[in-house]
Amino acid sequence: MSNDGRFAVVHNGIIENYLELRRELIKDGYIFQSETDTETIVHLLELYYDGDIKAAVMKTAARLEGSYALGIVCTDTPDALYVVREASPLILGVGVGENYFASDVTALVSHTKNVIYLEDGEFAKLTPDSITVCDCAGREVKKPISRVTWSVEAAEKGGYEHFMLKEIMEQPAAVKAALAPRIHEGRVQLDGFELGEEELRGISKIIITACGSAYYAGCSGRYAIERLCRVPVQVELASELRPMVDEHTLVLVISQSGETADTIAALKECKARGAKVIGIVNVVGSTIAKLADFTLYTFAGPEIAVATTKGYTTQLTVLYLFALYMAEKLGRIDAESYTTLVKELQHLPRKLQQTIDMNWQIPKLVSRYASHSLFFIGRNTDYAVALEGALKMKEISYLHAESYAAGELKHGTIALIEENQPVIAVCCNEALMDKTLSNIVEVKARGAKVLALSCKGNKKIVSQADDVIFIPRVETVFSAALAVVPLQLLAYYAAKEKGCDIDKPKNLAKSVTVE
Ligand code: G6P
Repeated sequence: MSNDGRFAVVHNGIIENYLELRRELIKDGYIFQSETDTETIVHLLELYYDGDIKAAVMKTAARLEGSYALGIVCTDTPDALYVVREASPLILGVGVGENYFASDVTALVSHTKNVIYLEDGEFAKLTPDSITVCDCAGREVKKPISRVTWSVEAAEKGGYEHFMLKEIMEQPAAVKAALAPRIHEGRVQLDGFELGEEELRGISKIIITACGSAYYAGCSGRYAIERLCRVPVQVELASELRPMVDEHTLVLVISQSGETADTIAALKECKARGAKVIGIVNVVGSTIAKLADFTLYTFAGPEIAVATTKGYTTQLTVLYLFALYMAEKLGRIDAESYTTLVKELQHLPRKLQQTIDMNWQIPKLVSRYASHSLFFIGRNTDYAVALEGALKMKEISYLHAESYAAGELKHGTIALIEENQPVIAVCCNEALMDKTLSNIVEVKARGAKVLALSCKGNKKIVSQADDVIFIPRVETVFSAALAVVPLQLLAYYAAKEKGCDIDKPKNLAKSVTVE
């Protein structure tokens, strides 16, 4: 709140030049109650206010560097809210006799499905009966009202104890929603992706960039794309991307929220260098969806739990569709394999349901394997799953979990294995089975207890591991989508046993809108 008590703000984002502003404001006599960057905003509002709130907000916004979605109230106009945004999501909800603003559309759906997406630099005044939007020059602009298709039920727990469990259970339906509109008469069609065959042939490499689980989805997607399309794929953390890209590079930017700041920055960088960008995004109207040249939506529906589950599996699904689509267009796959793989993809929702049904015993394994730090190991596609499995465990149960490429263990990490060290071995890749089995033997010989994850019918693994969890048999190229489910459940039940706040883990945010 401002010193004169006139203004109060809420802020999502980060003000990068706040120390400089703070020094200046203190010199002018303003008293700070906190160390936050946000507090500088409210004092600037007081400084620039001369009876015209819009002018004060515009002047304040002009001083701020960084990212912000601001909600402002002023005691002089108690029936109005003022909002402004820059590089941080801000959505207005249009109601009857009431209007709203939020950073995320999921917060609005139980109140209204009519929304206005604000652009960077735009300012709006909301009263119960009116919404006025102005551009950064203060000129009034007419904004279209979009209709959100997500249902209210989808944004509620529906009888489940946590959103995360509900979202794990929704995966068969979510993957079906991602697949169904894109497979027609046995062929993959990607509406929204309009590169001609010649342009596709001109692509010399693909870069996948993302953060968190979306990055791990990219790691799995890489194997599928390289195997089916025989185009080199590089997967880069968005925050680390120093792109060697040009107009012959196709960039896949993956983000559930479409608002992750690091991912947006990477996207802009790639576009500036001439690359074509495809966004693989869940939230319609999000920044990445708008900035990308083409957008492939994942159709997962609203995902509320901070730790992503159906967001991740639908990202994988879209990557698989993309790999098959490209492989066919480039003539790199024979007709028979194409038909088989498309069919297999269509079986994924059913197999996901089987995976969930087969893994009812997971809560019983928790006390044995999720007791202290865990290692997740695997090779190739299984390694990508191990990465996501370890992240899930860390995020929600706060247990120390690391993933290693199984073949790398002997180059150092195996020194950490001691009596009773839990090792989760992902072993779904038939071609690499024997090699991973050798790694299981190595860690067991040093005292580890091994929980293996494999495809049904794998007898060898039963004789080597202490416990085994199974998924249905599936083409290796798509196995990650099934294999991740037991690991999500393991993390969920580990967190539940520890009494953690599963849907809102400490220190984490669903959408990270600062770099
Ligand atoms: C946050 C979430 C992660 C998520 C990552 C990327 O860190 O906690 O679960 O994977 O952001 O989010 P995005 O919306 O870009 O997929």
